[in-house]
Amino acid sequence: MKLPKTPSLSLSGKRAFVAGASRGIGLGCAVALAEQGAHVVCAARGMDQLTEAVQAMAVEGHSAEAVQLDVADPQAVKSLLADHGPFHVVVNSAGIARHATALDTSIDDYQAVMDINVRGAFVLSAEAARGMIKAGVAGSIIHISSQMGHVGGQERAVYCASKHALEGMVKAMAIEWGPHKVRINTICPTFIRTPLAAVTLDDPERRAWVESKIKLGRVGEIEDVMGAVAYLASDASVMVTGTSLLIDGGWTAG
Ligand SMILES: NC(=O)c1ccc[n+]([C@@H]2O[C@H](COP(=O)([O-])OP(=O)(O)OC[C@H]3O[C@@H](n4cnc5c(N)ncnc54)[C@H](OP(=O)(O)O)[C@@H]3O)[C@@H](O)[C@H]2O)c1
Repeated sequence: MKLPKTPSLSLSGKRAFVAGASRGIGLGCAVALAEQGAHVVCAARGMDQLTEAVQAMAVEGHSAEAVQLDVADPQAVKSLLADHGPFHVVVNSAGIARHATALDTSIDDYQAVMDINVRGAFVLSAEAARGMIKAGVAGSIIHISSQMGHVGGQERAVYCASKHALEGMVKAMAIEWGPHKVRINTICPTFIRTPLAAVTLDDPERRAWVESKIKLGRVGEIEDVMGAVAYLASDASVMVTGTSLLIDGGWTAG
């Protein structure tokens, strides 16, 4: 009997791009892809932290380079993807939060979150897919969305709006790019201990809310996301597109 074989998670010989790779979840994604053998082009706005991250990856024997990028600048995204692409894997972990009640949210904060979390994600996806389709690459685009793309949360109407927008955008793009074998999906974490989540997790009242909602009884760590990005980037997920992988410890289960 010929047994079926689990498709490989290896990314050997592949080129990957990670936006938001200088810290937090994005750095975890960059390391996860490099561990599977990809060369990883790492991007963020601040070059000091990004350079430090890439140097630490080199010490571990990973193949990585640093490039400066603000995903809120559409022209810069287009130039970078044209100059450094095409990529087999593109991960977008560049995102911000400006938490406040809906009644206290300023228009400036609304715009800043939407410019990065939605417009940035849109332009990056389109330019990444353009390069993949032109080169005939069966690529994988992965956005770090959030459980807040599936439910609401307190003091985060704009953040939730940005992540729900991302979820819809990914489904529509999956329909357009499926025939080209370009896949696009989201990863939706619960609260993960990173600098971005500190404003919530450092506050005892907000932390109690978080812990009461996560059925597995703890806040997430960066490592909790790394297996998911390796899976969605690899041939192990070739039939997966237009969907989201919730890493929420059961938050959205009820
Ligand atoms: N941590 C959580 O609890 C959590 C949960 C669910 C979803 N998420 C999502 O996961 C993503 C990453 O969050 P995180 O917690 O890892 O945040 P983080 O620790 O603040 O890291 C954000 C990364 O994105 C980069 N970045 C921010 N704005 C950028 C821009 N305009 N252009 C390019 N790079 C930019 C940052 O570097 P520079 O500032 O130097 O550019 C940094 O490398 C976000 O989309 C967030 O919404 C986080």
